[in-house]
Amino acid sequence: MPLNSSKCVNQAQCLNEYMTSSYYQQQYWMQVPVMSAVDQCDPVIEGLDDDMDDEKLDDTWQWWDKFRSLCDSNKRLGVALELTPDLPSPGVIERWLSEPVKAVVVPTSLFLTNKKGYPVLSKAHQAVIKSLFKLEVQVIISGQDRHPEKTIRAYQQYMDHLWQSQDPVDTVGQFAKGYEDFLQSPLQPLMDNLESQTYEIFEKDPVKYSQYQKAVYRALLDRVPLEDRDKTDILIMVVGAGRGPLVRASIAAADEAGCKLKKIYAVEKNPNAVITLENIRESEWGNLVDVISCDMREWEAPEKADILVSELLGSFGDNELSPECLDGAQRYLKDDGISIPVQYTSYLAPLMSCKLYNEVRGSKVERGKPPEAPFEMPYVVRLHNCSILDKPKPVFTFSHPNRDEVIDNCRYETLEFTSSEAAVVHGFAGYFDTQLYKDVMLSIVPDTHSPGMFSWFPIYFPIRTPIKLESGASVCLEIYKYRYKSQDDDEDDDDDRDDDEYDEC
Ligand SMILES: C[S@@+](CC[C@H](N)C(=O)[O-])C[C@H]1O[C@@H](n2cnc3c(N)ncnc32)[C@H](O)[C@@H]1O
Repeated sequence: MPLNSSKCVNQAQCLNEYMTSSYYQQQYWMQVPVMSAVDQCDPVIEGLDDDMDDEKLDDTWQWWDKFRSLCDSNKRLGVALELTPDLPSPGVIERWLSEPVKAVVVPTSLFLTNKKGYPVLSKAHQAVIKSLFKLEVQVIISGQDRHPEKTIRAYQQYMDHLWQSQDPVDTVGQFAKGYEDFLQSPLQPLMDNLESQTYEIFEKDPVKYSQYQKAVYRALLDRVPLEDRDKTDILIMVVGAGRGPLVRASIAAADEAGCKLKKIYAVEKNPNAVITLENIRESEWGNLVDVISCDMREWEAPEKADILVSELLGSFGDNELSPECLDGAQRYLKDDGISIPVQYTSYLAPLMSCKLYNEVRGSKVERGKPPEAPFEMPYVVRLHNCSILDKPKPVFTFSHPNRDEVIDNCRYETLEFTSSEAAVVHGFAGYFDTQLYKDVMLSIVPDTHSPGMFSWFPIYFPIRTPIKLESGASVCLEIYKYRYKSQDDDEDDDDDRDDDEYDEC
């Protein structure tokens, strides 16, 4: 159905009634021009739109946003985006990538003719179509055949050519195929014991472990002067060792640096992973490695370490309780010892994605939980059909070892974001980066993402009620991290807040 102006209330009401009462699960696509033709709506006939100023009247995304809002963002509603001779700015095009665009309509009048007489599109139109290919849109060629000497198939062949000439999918894209916009509960490796398959997926990452190896290597070079490399006995502790990849990386780093290791302690609380560690110790590492089956916060180490290596990070940095675990483990790090990672920071950015919002809204509510429960938790998700409305900003930073007299991992931050285009905020995208050692970093923040690393997808914090922003408007976020409360704390808790307040975080 064509959507030709912002005066769409009656049209939306009719379609909405039909969609909500219809037994059949048809999809409905609204054909929206990517840019409005100014003379398209006749003010004399249509009158001025009362609830939209001039800017909104021209902005076809606003027509669509109004229409879909009136239809309560029904999942069965999609967009067939029609290309127009003039195109809006890249920011406006980008906004469409967060919408349920199902098809791109390309009028034959947009095609130029190349030297050989074939239909081709301008570079700008090609770029828009290629960006929409990421949403797996269908292509509809509309209008009269304007290249009759070449037959109508020439248009189709040109579209095939555009499809084939897309940039190849990178490693992360290949790994993430099929996971796009799929909501997953974040792992909780402290509370749960991870399964072997989960470790197996981590271990396939081509970047994470080589960066860790580089970090340990650099730390060893700094810690041991060249002349002492063959005699100094360095002690490394890998805490949260999983099935051993960081132990391997540490041994390789020591070999590379020509450093003699006294011992590596591999501390792991998951009894299943400990079995694998024991097997590798017997077959490969021998006496160099001691496997300790224990929670790192409780272990009484027989000696202190030079380097404490860990990877307890979630997509939002501290959300797998890395600070809380490392605060417990740093007792057995020498006073001048090094923690790898040294530091990590979480980031947030406002996000628009009708798709993710609908996924959360439609997700099953666990028995005994309130209906809004799905909006009260974050999700790990490969963000795809979405648009990030402002640059991510840093949120919380944690450094290790933490030598503060009283360690306080509580945090509070206020962030303000501005959207350059009119948009709807459906929640916030979360990321992290970490300084392993000196300039050796890992990052999933889009602008600094470690190339090829796929161990972490971003995290999505949904909001219950989407917030409409006009262009240039700001949205403010307040975020808290409360003290982590373990079961033991329940017994001797002298904090006068009750449990519900902790649950809120
Ligand atoms: C994200 S995994 C990383 C595993 C492995 N180092 C790797 O990089 O593949 C975190 C590991 O830390 C372990 N872990 C989490 N908290 C722990 C704790 N308090 N004490 C010991 N191990 C812990 C988990 O069981 C899990 O094996």
